[in-house]
Amino acid sequence: MYSIGIITASDKGARGEREDISGKAIADMLVKIGAVKQYVVVPDDQKLLADTMITMIDKQEIDLVLTTGGTGLGPRDVTPEATLSIVEKIVPGIPEAMRAKSLEKTSRAMLSRAVAGIRGRSLIINLPGSPKGVRECLEVVLPGIEHGLAILKGETGECGQA
Ligand code: MTE
Repeated sequence: MYSIGIITASDKGARGEREDISGKAIADMLVKIGAVKQYVVVPDDQKLLADTMITMIDKQEIDLVLTTGGTGLGPRDVTPEATLSIVEKIVPGIPEAMRAKSLEKTSRAMLSRAVAGIRGRSLIINLPGSPKGVRECLEVVLPGIEHGLAILKGETGECGQA
């Protein structure tokens, strides 16, 4: 079981003007692979988002950080930039898979600029902001995440599939 951090990037959510259904959707879908250690709603502010990711990983030693929201084309959408500013390696296949599969459902999937990356031995993945987007994207990447985390944590070097 892995420790999980959830960051909802939302100006309205942080002001208490919008209920965060997407953050809860992430928690519900991840029960099989881990436990939520920290869950926060942060305004769409690049520095605040980056600092929150750093705290979760460097201080709380969280294995997997999932963000939701702030990946689109809006002027306040900066979650990918915050993520890229603190990761050491990017993992392009994760958002590539999310967009490819999601495009079969909605052409708007191309509007998510989500990224994924590694900081230390932790993985960060951006998800879109809508609960529907969260569910559709997590469904795609969940099967690979567990194996990715096991490799990242040095728990397995074995990539052969049955
Ligand atoms: N991906 C999936 N699978 N399902 C969705 O409904 N919504 C899209 C896209 N990705 C969506 C999706 C839309 S409408 C937008 S604007 C972008 O994600 C960015 O969303 P965000 O700014 O809330 O992160």
